[in-house]
Amino acid sequence: MPNPIRATITATSKYLPEKVMTNHDLEKVVETNHEWIVSRTGISERRVVEDGQATADMCTRVAEEILLKRAITADDIDVIIIGTVTPDMLFPSTAALVQDAIGASNAWGYDLSGACSGFLFALENGVNYIETGRYKKVLVLGADTMTSILDYEDRTTCILFGDGAGGVLLEPSSDGDGIIDSLLFTDGSGGKHLCMPGGGSLNPATVETVKQRMHYIKQDGKKVFKVAVKGMADISLDILKKHDLSGKDIKLFIPHQANKRIIDASVDRLGLSPDQVLINIDKYANTTGATIPIGLAEAVEEGRIQTGDYILLAAFGAGFTWGSTLIRWGHSK
Ligand code: UT7
Repeated sequence: MPNPIRATITATSKYLPEKVMTNHDLEKVVETNHEWIVSRTGISERRVVEDGQATADMCTRVAEEILLKRAITADDIDVIIIGTVTPDMLFPSTAALVQDAIGASNAWGYDLSGACSGFLFALENGVNYIETGRYKKVLVLGADTMTSILDYEDRTTCILFGDGAGGVLLEPSSDGDGIIDSLLFTDGSGGKHLCMPGGGSLNPATVETVKQRMHYIKQDGKKVFKVAVKGMADISLDILKKHDLSGKDIKLFIPHQANKRIIDASVDRLGLSPDQVLINIDKYANTTGATIPIGLAEAVEEGRIQTGDYILLAAFGAGFTWGSTLIRWGHSK
């Protein structure tokens, strides 16, 4: 018998730092050019945190706006889950810092490392907490300060990423609307193709690891590109097929924003028209765990999602990790 309780998104929010770094700004830092970046990635500019600002600060702003929109207090929050690979520090968790900053005195929480799929993984956690009936209000955030781990001497990676945060509030619903299903995968054999080798227990920080630039992102772009194109399209088709739906049933597809060419390949395979796809990579670049919740918040702000609409989310990233989530939109702020 299907579970009568579904988790539904009742509020969304996003935060992007004010500071803009354009492709032309990057031309002054590394040997690159605006035309190459736009044609190969779709990115024109990205946002960058101020000195002293980091992931918890961006998450706090998102959480506070969600509380305001939903007209609840921080005490009402039961759980805070944050998908991030750039926590303020290894511990305490970003969730703990946010819990304190907003004063969520009844909440517990944790960070989850799923890279670009981190928000979908965190969402699945939150959905399960709601569906058991044990928790009523779960904050699920995705946030990354990617500029803190970018090597501005490596033009193949430093042009790709930006900073940002987004999030949703999950609550129970009994009218059938909400998160319908998720398909999630990890294939750790792809780990070496996209990683930050330094700073963990294997290569703790030393003068040597810093000299070798091990505390920055390393990526085999071509390898990741090939797997991402197939992975994100396949998983999007799989979840639709599982629920007897096709591209034409989807009001809005909100894919991870890593490369416009990867998004276009998924859009082609799903047979979607441009108005069915959210693309903001031109403005924000790849904000890793934040791309999908930022996209959701933007879509709600722009009136692109209404109650009853089918929304499809899809991600692919380091791990490798990938996944898709199908939503029938309920009532949200
Ligand atoms: O969200 C996490 C998952 N990550 C991804 O999904 C990223 C997947 N990969 C990609 O998006 C693409 O592979 C990149 C955008 C990273 C690279 O695009 P590409 O079309 O695969 O370029 P490429 O690596 O084949 O490089 C083509 C040329 C090379 O020059 P040669 O060897 O042909 O002379 C590069 O050296 O472009 C050169 N190049 C650049 N030129 C100007 C590489 N980076 C740059 C740059 N500016 N920033």
